[in-house]
Amino acid sequence: MPDQLGTALRQTDPEIFEHLESEDRRQGRTIRLIASENYASRAVRQATASRLTNKYSEGYPGRRYYQGQQETDAVENIARDRACALFGADHANVQPYSGSPANLAVYYALLELGDSVLGMGLPFGGHLTHGWKVSFSGRFYDAHHYGVSRDAEVIDYDEVRRIAKEVEPKMIICGASAYPRTIDFDAFADIAEEVGAYLVADIAHIAGLVAGGAHPSPVERADVVTTTTHKTLRGPRGGMILCKEEHARAIDRAVFPALQGGPHMNAIAAAAVAFGEADTDEFKAYAQQVVTNARILGQAMEEAGLRLVSGGTDNHLLLVDLTPRDIGGRDAAIALEKAGIIVNANSIPFDQRKPFDPSGIRLGTAAVTTRGMDGEDMKQIAQFIGQTLDHLDDDDQLGRIASDVEEFCSAFPLP
Ligand SMILES: Cc1ncc(COP(=O)(O)O)c(C=O)c1O
Repeated sequence: MPDQLGTALRQTDPEIFEHLESEDRRQGRTIRLIASENYASRAVRQATASRLTNKYSEGYPGRRYYQGQQETDAVENIARDRACALFGADHANVQPYSGSPANLAVYYALLELGDSVLGMGLPFGGHLTHGWKVSFSGRFYDAHHYGVSRDAEVIDYDEVRRIAKEVEPKMIICGASAYPRTIDFDAFADIAEEVGAYLVADIAHIAGLVAGGAHPSPVERADVVTTTTHKTLRGPRGGMILCKEEHARAIDRAVFPALQGGPHMNAIAAAAVAFGEADTDEFKAYAQQVVTNARILGQAMEEAGLRLVSGGTDNHLLLVDLTPRDIGGRDAAIALEKAGIIVNANSIPFDQRKPFDPSGIRLGTAAVTTRGMDGEDMKQIAQFIGQTLDHLDDDDQLGRIASDVEEFCSAFPLP
């Protein structure tokens, strides 16, 4: 089910045109379970492809360095206002190019080089920018980590408090890339208050659930909230920072002029569209369905003999431990791709295997729910996954599953 890309692209650059058409077909015929991916609406994609891509707009509305900003000022103001209304925030900066630059800007705004930070460790589901050693955040700051408990595989808030008291961080980051449970933002805020740290909540993964009321919001209690706009929030690729009024100036100055030049105004226009789409009852229902679908998919995976990290999910994602089946995450992800099911291999807490070939796979339901799939469809997807894991090295069988997957997908047109 290819999308209608413009004829200009076909004529000017048939090579790229063919790749994009082919990507449309791939997205159409496969089941996308990458937890950080989604399908942006046609309206969001039209704004992304607009002539705003031509415009330079260094600065902020009303204070730009170049002329010709009538429309960009209006668009950025709408994006900021909609973001504040959607999340109940004092201030929004919609210029970060993506989630990692948004986080970098927060470090720049709140800390001095070498200050101590406390974030979730990457092997437990945290993001690189939460102080991991290969990222700027682990290199230029004194980074410390919390994880999850060995038995329940959930965040142990007493342990977070103990570490926070020990390392006295100037900033605590909560939020994750691979944590299937509700994050208790109040508990983090209490700990941050007790040790005099800033609290930063990175809701990149769950922003759509927060906007849709399917996960508690950190906005009341956190000093700063960062997010991407393209995951559960279903907008264009981009980043955003929400903060209390007292941090607004430092955050804005960190994004521009400290770290970025001209904002990508086409992406900001598309983000505004996505914020408008998210502020609807339809989106609230979507967010609830994402969570319901994840729960049903998880139950079906357990029935197929697989183990869910932490025993289940409260949000859009599942971490599936393949150890009971004696299968590595990488082999599983490769076989699933051959069967038309797109996932990523993922470490599980206290993983005995290496990060590049870990013990788990991460599954997310944001994209399949956007396509209109429901609980019954999740059971069908779990069956496809189960069949695939039974025939890991049988390419003929994997090809047959891929045909079934393609037929299944044909009932769910791409947005
Ligand atoms: C929790 C979290 N924060 C930040 C990011 C970074 O976003 P980006 O890939 O847009 O830089 C991600 C990306 O997966 C994420 O999961």
